[in-house]
Amino acid sequence: MSRVVVTGRVPEIAIEKLRAEHEVDAWDGPESISRAELLRRVAGADAVVSLLTERIDAELLEAAGPQLKVVANVAVGYDNIDVPACTERGIVAANTPGVLTDATADIALSLILMATRRLGEGERLIRSGQAWKWGMFFLLGSSLQGKTLGVVGMGGIGQATARRAKAFGMEIVYQSRSEIDPGIAAELGARRADLDELLAVSDVVSLHCPYGPATHHLIGAEQLAAMKSSAYLVNTARGPIVDEAALASALREGRIAGAGLDVYEHEPRVHPELLELENVTLVPHLGSATVETRTAMAMLAADNALAVLSGEQPPAPIN
Ligand code: DGY
Repeated sequence: MSRVVVTGRVPEIAIEKLRAEHEVDAWDGPESISRAELLRRVAGADAVVSLLTERIDAELLEAAGPQLKVVANVAVGYDNIDVPACTERGIVAANTPGVLTDATADIALSLILMATRRLGEGERLIRSGQAWKWGMFFLLGSSLQGKTLGVVGMGGIGQATARRAKAFGMEIVYQSRSEIDPGIAAELGARRADLDELLAVSDVVSLHCPYGPATHHLIGAEQLAAMKSSAYLVNTARGPIVDEAALASALREGRIAGAGLDVYEHEPRVHPELLELENVTLVPHLGSATVETRTAMAMLAADNALAVLSGEQPPAPIN
């Protein structure tokens, strides 16, 4: 029997699955586990099932000890894990691709609609109690039909967002490290472009690339200036892909029309200027937040941990 540390609350069914085979120490406090408590608990662990709010770095791996075999993140993004540090120590790192693709694409499409149709503004207006009535020019937004969606990062979530946008009548361009499957490109009518061209031609730019040194502030002042002044930026990937201060200036000065954000550069803190602006829709990292999706994520993370503990290849290894 091995010792599995779960760093935060996850659906009970995943804990039960782990508990059927191993001793499980699961943090279930109402707040995130403190760093000191986390370092204390991981000592002697054979597996760590981590949430994206916990930093899994060399210090934590050392605190765990040489018996640690696997870090299974309950997320597809793994910028919270120092993967090279895991690899150096022979520790398997794993994530949860696939199971949150549709949920995250749904939120991307929701943000596209909220931003372009000014739904947040409308909701805030009604809740404020201010008088309003239908008017020919009242809260006019922008239609999606015939417009171009630029997808930055055309992996599973980017493709699923493109599929939804196509159903809304949008044309698709994408920027990606590699060409996508030609059959999928044909089905979506998607054309590959470099980032400069994508920014120049898109009416909505939606970010779906992983976060790392190569994508830190991928969208900064220069890229925002390259967008159409009528365009919108949507980010459901990771906050630091966007320079939030530059985005706030661009939105304030009307250099782009609007934005929809699910993730933040210094999450959970939101740039104070963004909070003041009407032309940005802000939601609190809800991309994968459905009961079904979170359950599937936790089960896949449990499967990753269990496989490694049994000496097998995990379903979704990173390294
Ligand atoms: C992920 O899995 O990386 C998502 O951001 C979680 O919502």
